Amino acid sequence: MEKLQFSFVILTLSLISSFSSIQSATFTLTNQCNYPVWTGLLSGAGTPPLPTTGFPLQPSQSNSVAVPPSWSGRMWGRTLCSTDSTGKFTCVTGDCGSGTMECNGGGATPPATLAEFTLNGANGMDFYDISLVDGYNLPMMIVPQGGSGNCNVTGCMADLNKNCPSALRLTAAGNGDESVACRSACGAFGDPMYCCNGAYSTPETCSPTSYSEYFKTACPTAYSYAYDDGTSTFTCTSANYVITFCPTPANSRKTTGAGQSADSSGGISLGEGFGGHFVMVIAVLLTMVWRL
Ligand SMILES: *[C@@H]1O[C@H](CO)[C@@H](O)[C@H](O)[C@H]1NC(C)=O
Repeated sequence: MEKLQFSFVILTLSLISSFSSIQSATFTLTNQCNYPVWTGLLSGAGTPPLPTTGFPLQPSQSNSVAVPPSWSGRMWGRTLCSTDSTGKFTCVTGDCGSGTMECNGGGATPPATLAEFTLNGANGMDFYDISLVDGYNLPMMIVPQGGSGNCNVTGCMADLNKNCPSALRLTAAGNGDESVACRSACGAFGDPMYCCNGAYSTPETCSPTSYSEYFKTACPTAYSYAYDDGTSTFTCTSANYVITFCPTPANSRKTTGAGQSADSSGGISLGEGFGGHFVMVIAVLLTMVWRL
């Protein structure tokens, strides 16, 4: 009888863990660039912390991060990173100022392409976008998986460094004239007209400019300036997310609807996660019957 009670406890715990696994999301970060990328992850104020705040990804490497329910924050890629003779770690683009691989609460130094998330927001929906408001350093894409709702893919696939207007170019020692990142007009000139502050602090007074249009034309679904909300914020419910650096067109197909299985890029779909727990529950039930 004690064994039976014990089995019921295990069964209950298994069921609880089945349901809690539905609420947290798996984010898979994948590097398809032909150069290494060091991820940066920053949690918003008052949001649960992540298990990591930054890690390296070699070309074609992926890593998954368990993201707690109701998390909000941003993720980005750091490039051209190195450790100096004193052991200090720095990156030419996207540096977070921590001096180490982990960002430890530091945000990206502009210019940097950002993937922004608010999970379980209004009506239980996740809100996400790719932002070029703080400039651009590398192509990025967000692909929701297994969620319900619109769940559009968004991103900036284009190489905006190549044709970056000369006034916006960030160059680095040893890279000649080559642009390693492309600044936003706000970052380059600090003018309220570009930054949407001062006399330009409302959606009505802050308009696109020829600079923001360079970003918008190349990356129509990304935020190109602060009030670019209409075409740049997307929603999905109960999804996992794959964030790809340097996505290739083959990986940009749209995934729609609930229950669609994860593609080969390493994301764990909701179904698989739940299935794992389901197998565990069955195993416990079988053990229980066997002991009777
Ligand atoms: C999502 O994609 C569909 C089909 O491509 C498009 O019609 C729709 O406008 C997009 N939704 C948003 C919010 O942009």
